[in-house]
Amino acid sequence: MQDLTILNTEVGQGGHGEVRVAKWGDNDVAIKRVLSGSDQTQNTLYVSLMNEMKVLSKLKHPNIVQMFGFCEDETVKERSVCIVMKYYPKGSLDKYLYNADLHLDTRVIIQMMLSIASGMSYLHSMNIRHQDLKPDNILVKNFNPKENICDVVLCDFGLSMLSDVQNSETIQGTVTYAAPEIKTGDYMVDAYSFAIILWEACTREKAWSKCKFNAEIEEQVKNGARPDVSGIHVEKKGLVKIIEKCWSQDPKDRFTFEQIFEELKKCEKGLPLNSPVSGLPLNSPSSARRPEMVIEEKIEGRMDDSTDWEAFENILMDFGCEKPEKFKILCEGNKVSKEKWTKYINYFQPLITSRTKHSAQIGFTLGQVADVISLPFFHGDLSASEAIDVLETHGTSGSYLLRFSSSKGNLTLTVREPTDYANLRISYDLQDGQIVFCGGEFKSVSIRELMDEYERKSPEIDGKSFEFKQACNRIVKR
Ligand SMILES: Nc1ncnc2c1ncn2[C@@H]1O[C@H](COP(=O)(O)OP(=O)(O)OP(=O)(O)O)[C@@H](O)[C@H]1O
Ligand SMILES: [Mg+2]
Repeated sequence: MQDLTILNTEVGQGGHGEVRVAKWGDNDVAIKRVLSGSDQTQNTLYVSLMNEMKVLSKLKHPNIVQMFGFCEDETVKERSVCIVMKYYPKGSLDKYLYNADLHLDTRVIIQMMLSIASGMSYLHSMNIRHQDLKPDNILVKNFNPKENICDVVLCDFGLSMLSDVQNSETIQGTVTYAAPEIKTGDYMVDAYSFAIILWEACTREKAWSKCKFNAEIEEQVKNGARPDVSGIHVEKKGLVKIIEKCWSQDPKDRFTFEQIFEELKKCEKGLPLNSPVSGLPLNSPSSARRPEMVIEEKIEGRMDDSTDWEAFENILMDFGCEKPEKFKILCEGNKVSKEKWTKYINYFQPLITSRTKHSAQIGFTLGQVADVISLPFFHGDLSASEAIDVLETHGTSGSYLLRFSSSKGNLTLTVREPTDYANLRISYDLQDGQIVFCGGEFKSVSIRELMDEYERKSPEIDGKSFEFKQACNRIVKR
């Protein structure tokens, strides 16, 4: 392991120790350390840091702080232990939320909350609860309000899963974000904390700021009192619904983080198109650009002509791609060429920005692009005659494959029939705010389900009966 040089810059002094910037090779990293002293407090802090290290070593997600490793420092008089993690120079979310001079558009707030919900959803799927979710424990990764970008990571897992430590006077999480049942609660305590954070993001105030004593807050919350939502702007009424569900007195009534994510997506879709995001006139090409598009260009900017897969995966994660491994199919050997990435992402660009006949926006995300291109029967950039060659050599009657279509953004299914080949266009539409894939008489939310429909019903297209039987999986180098 390379040497770690601790710099003097302290970025945070919390209940559990100190966080400093350090140099690790050429990189800036953040280290969180405690001294393993003998007194009770120090010992509890040590246990908590060890716990955090164990929790973080299980986690890998674009919205969870990235841990590089763990080390012990024998050079100081008392032994110290530290977690080495990625350094996020933009700092924690509290500085953004309570800065009255900083305008946060509803869209930006939604992006912020989506990335919290995505990290939390992953955390709960790993059977881990946070138990100390609050703005100081959320770090800002990317922030560009003009482009509607606010991407965060969750940090400080010192209290995660530690029910005994949680009750300790020394390091109990702050009461402002604590659910009424915090001491006995389960996963839903995190949903409560989320409600308070979302309330703070909508009002740009600190919750319970008028209460002087923690006991006063605890008492009120136990009796069902909650911060006031009446002053929140009507544009945010969808967000108020989420707040109110998530701080329900009965934890069973709260939304799960998956539901929160879905509800936030609905709020996002419900906002007027081109709300004054960047201050640019409507219809200007630049104001019509969606954040994803900008993100894709930025990813390109960070790639070399040929980038190692591990580096590319990290870039994708930095840009909030939830399923980076699905892009692995772009690899040749262990490398991804910029040319190939650009070709694929440009191909899907119309979907990310185009409008349907109902004038709603199709909003493919990187994850959705990944879902399509990682389908095993997706053969990418094949011409019609190459597709026929593949099906002739590797398929039988009823086999099909999916490929780029001659019309950018669409896809073509090429099917081998008993005596002929057919090409069927797959296009897209929006139904109830959701993207659906349309092929012939069928519509479905995923290409997999669309194929299931085809296989079940053998549709008639252009007067001919098609029989979809088995997918012809990728076997050629594209
Ligand atoms: N990786 C990081 N990059 C940048 N800043 C960080 C990083 N990790 C932590 N910080 C800063 O240090 C502060 C304290 O970190 P953290 O919350 O992990 O420690 P803590 O001692 O448990 O704090 P507390 O008990 O007050 O919650 C954070 O609020 C944040 O401002
Ligand atoms: Mg903290």
